[in-house]
Amino acid sequence: MSNEYIIVEQSFGLSGEVQLTGAKNAVLVIMASLILTSGKSKLKNVPASRDVLHMITLLKDLGAQVFFDQEKNELDVDTSTIVHYNVAPEIMKQMRASVLVMGPLLARFGCVDLALPGGCVIGTRPINYHISNFEKMGAHVQITGESISARASKLEAKKLILEYPSVGATENLMMAAVLTPGTTKIINAAVEPEVLDLVKVLQKMGADIEVVPPATIQIKGVATLQPIKHEVIFDRLEAGSLLLAAAMTGGEIHLPQAPAYALDLFLFKLQEMGHKIEVGNDDIGVRLKATKSPRAVSFKTGPYPGFPTDLQAPMMAAQCLASGTSVVQETVFENRLLHVRELQKMGAQISVQHNTATVTGVEELYGVPVIATDIRASCALVLAGFVAKGTTVMSGIHHWRRGYEALEKKLAMLGGTIAFQQHASSHIKGCDSVEGIKKRVQL
Ligand code: UD1
Repeated sequence: MSNEYIIVEQSFGLSGEVQLTGAKNAVLVIMASLILTSGKSKLKNVPASRDVLHMITLLKDLGAQVFFDQEKNELDVDTSTIVHYNVAPEIMKQMRASVLVMGPLLARFGCVDLALPGGCVIGTRPINYHISNFEKMGAHVQITGESISARASKLEAKKLILEYPSVGATENLMMAAVLTPGTTKIINAAVEPEVLDLVKVLQKMGADIEVVPPATIQIKGVATLQPIKHEVIFDRLEAGSLLLAAAMTGGEIHLPQAPAYALDLFLFKLQEMGHKIEVGNDDIGVRLKATKSPRAVSFKTGPYPGFPTDLQAPMMAAQCLASGTSVVQETVFENRLLHVRELQKMGAQISVQHNTATVTGVEELYGVPVIATDIRASCALVLAGFVAKGTTVMSGIHHWRRGYEALEKKLAMLGGTIAFQQHASSHIKGCDSVEGIKKRVQL
């Protein structure tokens, strides 16, 4: 395990203007979709996060030639050299999104061999919707231990019904269907902005695909697809995290590229807390001026356009010091409240029943050693660290690196005190635990 830590000190009034990076969740699937073409594609606005680097490793392992200019955030991928349809288990295990190559490999080669991506801390995360619908399209899928193989001499267009609008299943099935003759319909499809960016990419490739409101995706199979040039959408989750950083610390922030159109409910909740929000023309760009006395708000996560599960943990951190009580219901993942324990260590008053956390605002949080349990939990703990007295020392920072390209630099630029450090021992010793503080207060 890494002995690297993120050290966060109490910081006031994070303010300024920040440029966003491209959306990780959009770029990962777009990279997978390039397998459907044979030739040179160029992607712009590609974040240099660990998950993107893992997807590059995966594409190279399949035989693609990839060049990533991390300074310019530009990625060149030549898929004409792809010769394999099997992904090594050690690559699969790095990242759950690896499963998104299943649809394109099946469509291109009629074969795919993978290792199961496995469970993860936020829930078991099965892929039954992916598999049952590949089978419905005529694929023969075999799962043996940790391995999964699918074969289809010819996929068939079908009406595919998702019990739940799974983002990954919608994306995988769309990619399998674009080269399948006939009309495929995905009913109760996910329509997250990242899914719609993939639709745009597939259309650029020459696919006949359209979203029929409210949530059907209709695809008429074509014979071949062309390489593309595409600029990935900006990251609504990074935007949400930066807005919260300013809101929680009493600052003012301007995000000129923020996709406000994709953050409606989140921005509405920030306003309900008392923060002042201004949205730019065409729903692009957000300015936030923090209130000095935020009110607690309740919210429930759900598929888009519901409240994004990926902003649940950071938004919960914002409730810890707000006045009143907030009820937070997580409906997307069954086990996505692990950050609660870490926030409690910092002095937050939170109780959990099943998938619901009740947060009662407190006067102060305290810097203590905390552990990031997933990407978005790492963000929540950093944000809580900015409003906690003393020093917060966060371990488990590979989660942070997986999800964000240098978000710590942007937070520092806004005035936040945050740094990576190899050893945390001096900080941990000097750092107050809640129990320690209580004892001192009693003395
Ligand atoms: C994607 C995002 C993730 C986000 C999530 C929900 C990427 C790389 N990741 O994950 O950041 O939090 O959408 O917006 O884009 N489910 C099943 N069976 C399946 C598939 C899903 O039961 O076959 C369940 C999951 O366990 C979960 C729910 O459906 O409870 C939603 O999962 P899904 O939308 O598929 O999330 P991902 O695509 O994995």
